[in-house]
Amino acid sequence: MTDRAVNDLHPFWMPFTANRAFKARPRLLATARDMHYFTPDGQAVLDGTSGLWCVNAGHGRAPITEAIQKQAAVLDYAPPFQLGHPLAFELASRLAMQMPGDLNHVFFANSGSESVDTALKIALAYQQARGFEGRTRLIGRQKGYHGVGFGGISVGGLENNRKGFLTLPGVDHLPHTLDLEQAAFSRGQPAWGAHLADDLERLIEQHGAETIAAVIVEPMSGSAGVIVPPVGYLERLRQITSQHGILLIFDEVITAFGRLGGLTAAEVLGVTPDLLTCAKGLTNGAVPMGAVAVSSQVYDTVVRHAARDGIEFFHGYTYSGHPLACAAALASLDVYEAEGLFERATGLAPYWEDAVHGLADLPNVIDIRNLGLVAAVELASRPEAPGARAMEVFHRAFDDGLLIRVTGDVIALSPPLIISKDQIDQLVDQLRQAILATA
Ligand SMILES: Cc1ncc(COP(=O)(O)O)c(C=O)c1O
Repeated sequence: MTDRAVNDLHPFWMPFTANRAFKARPRLLATARDMHYFTPDGQAVLDGTSGLWCVNAGHGRAPITEAIQKQAAVLDYAPPFQLGHPLAFELASRLAMQMPGDLNHVFFANSGSESVDTALKIALAYQQARGFEGRTRLIGRQKGYHGVGFGGISVGGLENNRKGFLTLPGVDHLPHTLDLEQAAFSRGQPAWGAHLADDLERLIEQHGAETIAAVIVEPMSGSAGVIVPPVGYLERLRQITSQHGILLIFDEVITAFGRLGGLTAAEVLGVTPDLLTCAKGLTNGAVPMGAVAVSSQVYDTVVRHAARDGIEFFHGYTYSGHPLACAAALASLDVYEAEGLFERATGLAPYWEDAVHGLADLPNVIDIRNLGLVAAVELASRPEAPGARAMEVFHRAFDDGLLIRVTGDVIALSPPLIISKDQIDQLVDQLRQAILATA
């Protein structure tokens, strides 16, 4: 105990935050509604990032809030091990019905990180169940972000998140596909880069397919600064993995639930994985929840391998399929559907693309990339100070009433799917002013 004041800023060790800088200059969000946050003194902040890629239907949506409130009064909690409650089954069925291909089973977690670690464990369980105990190798991709569990940082490819921590043995990384010399200012999927998927052939040759369990990629990388898959790249990964008995996992924690204009990137881009992780937009960010959609082939193999009355997969969380999260997810799916928000994202995408590419003439802008309702503006780094320029833009934009997200010198934009054309113009204009002011 110290004699600090109650509600001191210091006890809260903030995640992925420069704690000392933040606490010297705090930025607090007090309330939110539709497209805006509001600071404690009432300043509106246009949400250019859907919170953290999750509030796809906009903030404070009444049907979602009411569903959570109602559920809290009906059934606050139910143990998910050897017991069930109706909403978890309803949500799993609804997701299974809408997921592409034969992704017909759903395992619930509480975050993207947990979903990723769950998916990696399912992949290992599947390979063992079909008699391939030697298939334990996992392959991720450079610049990949798969959350912060030990599994996720191992297959992830962001150095700051890995260094200093133990990582899993037997992990390799494919090359990332971002190359400004080849594909800067591409609109949508770059034409260049499909051949980079062939690096998987090299890893197969090096280690033998009989040692590889799964490949995990984000169909579109978000956290690394928006890396859009080259035309044909995901198709090629699908082809090689299928050919060699390797599972393909899509980490759709940010791409699922409308971000690219469909329920999943898999559906939009026409490539179906064997496992698909999601979170964030699943509950519109209102209650933590993650999920792994699993193919019938994988589920059946794991389940049939176990003794008849035995537990088939020794994994799960106290809050897997939490009643409040299920209520929030079902209500979010209702809102997405009733308001046609995925179709809305598809319809807005060309306007969005034109608007963000309109920033190409600004000083220090070295790339603009986009897909669906996502975009990135990459700035030239200041010598000796990578990330400083974009961080300055972030501060400036926030002070002027716009929330953006920065990773290194990349500004990432992913507004709620309810954004209007006028608000797109406003967002881009405010960003233009912030970039100009910090040039
Ligand atoms: C692709 C991807 N996977 C996993 C995660 C981790 O999710 P969480 O922060 O909910 O653990 C994220 C978070 O941004 C993500 O973008």
